[in-house]
Amino acid sequence: MLYRLCLKRRDALLFLVLCGLVCLHLLLDDQPAAGLLDHQDDLQPLPKEVVFLLILCQVDGPAEGHAMASAVTRQLQQTRVLLTSALALTATRLRFIVVADSEELYSKLVALSTDFPPQYRDKLSFEYLPVWYPNDRLYMRNMFRECATERLFVPAMLPKEDAIIYIDTDFVFLRPPEDLWAHFHKFDSVQVAAMAPCLYHYGTSKNSQVPFYGPTGLNAGVMHMNLTRMKSFPDGGWLEANLLVFDKWRDAIVLADQDILNILFHKHPTLLYELGCEWNFRLFQCRDGENACPAAAAEGVALLHGNALTFATDREPKIKAVYDTWDQHELGTSIAALYASLRQNLRDATISAQGCSMLPDIDDVLSLQLLSFLKRKNAL
Ligand SMILES: *[C@@H]1O[C@H](CO)[C@@H](O)[C@H](O)[C@H]1NC(C)=O
Repeated sequence: MLYRLCLKRRDALLFLVLCGLVCLHLLLDDQPAAGLLDHQDDLQPLPKEVVFLLILCQVDGPAEGHAMASAVTRQLQQTRVLLTSALALTATRLRFIVVADSEELYSKLVALSTDFPPQYRDKLSFEYLPVWYPNDRLYMRNMFRECATERLFVPAMLPKEDAIIYIDTDFVFLRPPEDLWAHFHKFDSVQVAAMAPCLYHYGTSKNSQVPFYGPTGLNAGVMHMNLTRMKSFPDGGWLEANLLVFDKWRDAIVLADQDILNILFHKHPTLLYELGCEWNFRLFQCRDGENACPAAAAEGVALLHGNALTFATDREPKIKAVYDTWDQHELGTSIAALYASLRQNLRDATISAQGCSMLPDIDDVLSLQLLSFLKRKNAL
């Protein structure tokens, strides 16, 4: 925009000098980019905040053994890395609504950000929401993983919010979160939620007997929820529609909320906006040595999902290298330096004879979005 405006002026030289100065300023500036620079393809105005929902539950009582305790520690650690990547790339404010089963756990989560530099901490806020299940549905709380079905009740718990993005804790951003939020504005007039395709499991696994959305089902790790629209969901509203599905398919449901959501949007496909697979890239999209996500091959992964413990184990060293790079990143240091370490860590990652490291361009797939981010920052 500025480019075109400038060209209309007679004094092209002044324009060049000015733009040169701006570029130099941006190059030297470690702060997140100003909003107007971020949106190259979709010219959405920068939202004043991006609202996320996290769900964090710890099994309480005698069941809390060593494995469970370390699962929570791992989740907290992953959340710190998620927050770091989101904050480093965003130009706006981030608000995290945290549904947790104890205030103690919530405080631990908030404490993760206490050592962030003030200019980043100021862009971050948290809200605590205790886990809630309706009285007649208390048994659903620990039917699968603890509180796995909680998300179905969230719209009822947040009567004043218009929209949120639910996100699992095992994600890292490679593209600004506001670009993910911008997909809300691409919804048609009836769509209530967005999720990315699963690309495996549904339709291929003998364990999965439930109907599912589209050719490969949906992955529920990241989900846009327009809560305003969910209130008038068919079949009596969002909660009622989900409970109907649950009661009917109860015995066939394996993957808790994800199965329920797949059955629901199998029934109401027009109410779902399909998010691109580059916004929920998982090892299953590359582990056969082929990239099942063309958009990630062309432009890079925008949001990386470390499901099946990919961030915590060495099963996919290239994917883990991305997580480790963000884990080592100190907010306030430059994204250019982060990008350089990422490339180095990807080169150093062990290549195995199977899985994602068999993709010849896997290092690019996992770093191109950061490169584009840097280019957008500089190339005004
Ligand atoms: C959610 O839907 C309502 C009703 O259609 C709309 O006014 C609102 O802008 C939507 N929210 C977002 C973030 O798109």
